[in-house]
Amino acid sequence: MSAVTLLTLEKMKRDGDKIATLTAYDYSFASLLDQAGIDVVLIGDSLGMVMQGHESTLPVSLDEMIYHSLCVTRGARRALRVGDMPFMSYQGSREQALESAGRMMKEGGVQVVKLEGGEIMADTVRFLVDRGVPVCGHLGLVPQSVNQLGGYRVQGKDAASARQIRNDALSLQQAGAKLLVLEAVPADLASAITAELDIPTIGIGAGPECDGQVLVLQDMLGIYPKTSPKFVRNFMDGADSIEAAIKAYIQAVKSGEFPAPEHCF
Ligand code: KIV
Repeated sequence: MSAVTLLTLEKMKRDGDKIATLTAYDYSFASLLDQAGIDVVLIGDSLGMVMQGHESTLPVSLDEMIYHSLCVTRGARRALRVGDMPFMSYQGSREQALESAGRMMKEGGVQVVKLEGGEIMADTVRFLVDRGVPVCGHLGLVPQSVNQLGGYRVQGKDAASARQIRNDALSLQQAGAKLLVLEAVPADLASAITAELDIPTIGIGAGPECDGQVLVLQDMLGIYPKTSPKFVRNFMDGADSIEAAIKAYIQAVKSGEFPAPEHCF
């Protein structure tokens, strides 16, 4: 199988082929995901919670993201590697964002950087894209703003906030973002945004109409000791190995069987 690129994902959107994405933070799981046929591996700053035991993603440092990205890069040779820019590694200025993104790519080996925020980040996204840094946006429940949001809550439930998320999505696309993660938003809002955008959307708790789906690996394997959100399905149920669970996830995303109505808002 040839390496997955942003062009592959664009074509998958055009052809209606679903994009299967999972997080990974280390070499062994990255290799397993790659061999199972995952399209995108996300080195998420969720590692602050599932690897490090923090309450949120906020304490994760750029050096930690680079360390885990490099571990994943050694294992995931075919899947596209997207890496999260951690809290306060890009919000300060566009120059700060460029320096952090450069380190994620040069030292961590990621091919795309992900950052949270909409219209307010558009100028930074354009600055990065113009300098050869591919960017993935992240809207809806943006975990780095958990304190501002007052908790991990579904976003875009009323007309005004839905409109804002839609405008944010268009601004990011206009600024040159190549991918967009939509987290914990009503399925009909994610569906409308997905139809309106040319770039692929990857949903997590955003309904079945997104161009792809992502879950945190430890959640979908049922090994994170804390409560998982409603949008998670434990793919170890009925699977006789981790490899089988990962393959079942990929298959369920590709066929549209996951997410089911009980995983949606
Ligand atoms: O950090 C992460 O794993 C993420 C996903 C939840 C989309 O951003």
